[in-house]
Amino acid sequence: DWNMPDYISEAVEAIRKQVGDQEVILGLSGGVDSSVAAALIHRAIGDQLTCVFVDHGLLRLDEGKMVMNMFAKNLGVKVIHVDATSQFMGKLAGVTDPEAKRKIIGAEFVEVFHAESDKLKNAKWLAQGTIYPDVIESAGKGKKGAHTIKSHHNVGGLPETLNLKLLEPLRELFKDEVRELGVALGLPHDMVYRHPFPGPGLGVRILGEVKKEFADLLRRADAIFIEELRNCVDEEGRSWYDKTSQAFAVFLPVKSVGVMGDGRTYEYVVALRAVQTQDFMTAHWAHLPHELLGKVSNRIINEVRGINRVVYDISGKPPATIEWE
Ligand code: XMP
Repeated sequence: DWNMPDYISEAVEAIRKQVGDQEVILGLSGGVDSSVAAALIHRAIGDQLTCVFVDHGLLRLDEGKMVMNMFAKNLGVKVIHVDATSQFMGKLAGVTDPEAKRKIIGAEFVEVFHAESDKLKNAKWLAQGTIYPDVIESAGKGKKGAHTIKSHHNVGGLPETLNLKLLEPLRELFKDEVRELGVALGLPHDMVYRHPFPGPGLGVRILGEVKKEFADLLRRADAIFIEELRNCVDEEGRSWYDKTSQAFAVFLPVKSVGVMGDGRTYEYVVALRAVQTQDFMTAHWAHLPHELLGKVSNRIINEVRGINRVVYDISGKPPATIEWE
């Protein structure tokens, strides 16, 4: 059992002692861990912290605005917003293999972050939102017989080539403790209790070649799905967003025939995926109410021109994985 105000003041003290008057940079992704790390470090050292937020063009709808509002506007954190969309799209053009896409996105991220950090000449520390389960996981890496299904590129993990000292104030915390800490530091409940989002983002939710046009359609379909999941609340006040571990839309680059008014349409397909899981190693597809699925489907087809068919993924993990790539 821990006392939050005491924990925060001890952590703040430890960070101040560790970095002294030196400057710190942090790669802010919009995810829970890097956000809580940023809020905690900012509490400790204020303007000695600079966050770098790299938008690879594969983020959810309005993610950039959300991050800038929350950190730059509300908390007064220094955040450099890098829009690297065209750079990432250029590198991804013509690439269809899922692992190749992951590697390109991971490598490009490091390059963009490197370029930004080089501009911050006084930075001596690289802060990361590493949490206790990450520490355990990386200690177990390279174990004999470990079999890689997907190389998880987490944009939080930056290499030593940056020549910066590592500051990892969440290293001893479990996820639920990180969330509690985030709320205590003033981050909004909805952001702290978000579903996880993969580092390569929509890059692994657009099957095959990634195009900006596809990402734009997918972002809008996904936002409708998430909005309806949040709005569908039971008697106890729990929404379907809370009752699922992860939920998202997937862009399928196949066209099918439809009809709208008196016209024929020939447009793309979106799949909805919603799962329930404890550990993300195995997962069940969520039994969402048919009315909810129907509403999401209608809204996507009516509001997102370019999509004329919506399907629901009813595959468990195993044998399917949670992400489609
Ligand atoms: P799968 O698709 O393997 O996903 O069942 C399990 C969990 O891992 C997430 N995931 C990733 N996270 N980089 C990440 O940071 C990745 O490359 C990546 N691939 C999958 C996925 O969203 C799910 O939570």
